[in-house]
Amino acid sequence: MTAYYNGLVLQSAGARPSVAELRRPEVGPGQVRVAVRAAGVCHSDLSMVNGTIRPSYPLVLGHEAAGEVVEVGANVTRAAVGDRVVLNWQPACRTCWFCENGEPWLCSTSSGVASLENGVTLDDEPVHVALGLGAFAEQVVAPENAVIKVPSALEFEVAALLSCGVLTGAGAVRNTARVRSGESVVVIGLGGVGLSVVAAARAAGASDVIAVDVSEAKKGLAEAAGATDFVVSSDALSKEIRTRTSGRGADHAFECVGRAATIRAAWRATRRGGQVTVVGMGSNDDLVQLSALDIFSSARTLRSSVYGSADPDLEIPRLAEDVLTGRLSLNHLITNRITLAEVPDAFDQMSRGEGARSVVTI
Ligand code: APR
Ligand code: ZN
Repeated sequence: MTAYYNGLVLQSAGARPSVAELRRPEVGPGQVRVAVRAAGVCHSDLSMVNGTIRPSYPLVLGHEAAGEVVEVGANVTRAAVGDRVVLNWQPACRTCWFCENGEPWLCSTSSGVASLENGVTLDDEPVHVALGLGAFAEQVVAPENAVIKVPSALEFEVAALLSCGVLTGAGAVRNTARVRSGESVVVIGLGGVGLSVVAAARAAGASDVIAVDVSEAKKGLAEAAGATDFVVSSDALSKEIRTRTSGRGADHAFECVGRAATIRAAWRATRRGGQVTVVGMGSNDDLVQLSALDIFSSARTLRSSVYGSADPDLEIPRLAEDVLTGRLSLNHLITNRITLAEVPDAFDQMSRGEGARSVVTI
């Protein structure tokens, strides 16, 4: 393998990312090298480009990916050369307080939204890798606990989607909100994450799944994912939802945009005693305003769902099995297959609210 490989590098917030030749790091003890075969364009990548979140730069973008293990370091036991794997941007240490408390998605040793230096260099200067991975690249070096083995029958493109958008959306429904059969659900924001929420809510037996987006063009995708209703977002949204839920509001609302305004819309769309689950990752300076009386008297629950409140080591193989047995269909989520150099155009499309997932295939 050559010492250089291509990756998509962002020099600073607001800049246009471009493909650069990176120098690959050595694989240290406990690490593996993965040849990336597919990587999805997730809104969290766009949030790093447009400055909604600001990790360190220069930065190799990308975190929703799958590939093949091509090299393993000393003492690696979890993976072998040739394994098909999904990358996990929140690998659990299994020893911190949160992991021992059964909340590996909150692992305190994981990088979270921060970015790491892991030995990758560009023109002899260190570069950071997004969410500890930097997966818009021909290869990734990661600790062995950041790879999860999946069956070789699972297509790389589908495997990539499992690693972030699908796990996040399905986990929010199953683990965080625990949607039950017969409940009504509103989903605001129909990208890869929101559409995964729609599909999981239907699979959980929700009677009504009301899909909401600013873009009318999302209607067909919402229906393909299993939505029973589609509503274009407007100032009259809560009234519209009430009309469709016996005047009460929905049992659940999922916010899959990452903005204060849509968190408020989700709040207002639920019934008294309902549950609002925030799945979108917003910015630090976008404040949600709710009155103290409203919080008390509406008796609603507001909580967030980080990485689907899931243990990816357990749930990714289950989701893979669901895809292989036909219980879960994800093909409608992939609306664009692109090259690394085309990712900036995919960000532009995402900013305009077009399509579901663009997937880089390598
Ligand atoms: N009301 C309703 N829908 C909206 C609004 C709004 N005010 N603003 C944007 N949207 C829609 C967009 O039209 C788009 O369809 O939200 C959707 C967001 O989809 P993507 O950009 O594809 O984002 P996705 O990758 O699904 O991530 C959603 O979850 O993990 C987080 O960081 C991620 O915050 C992001 C969110
Ligand atoms: Zn993501």
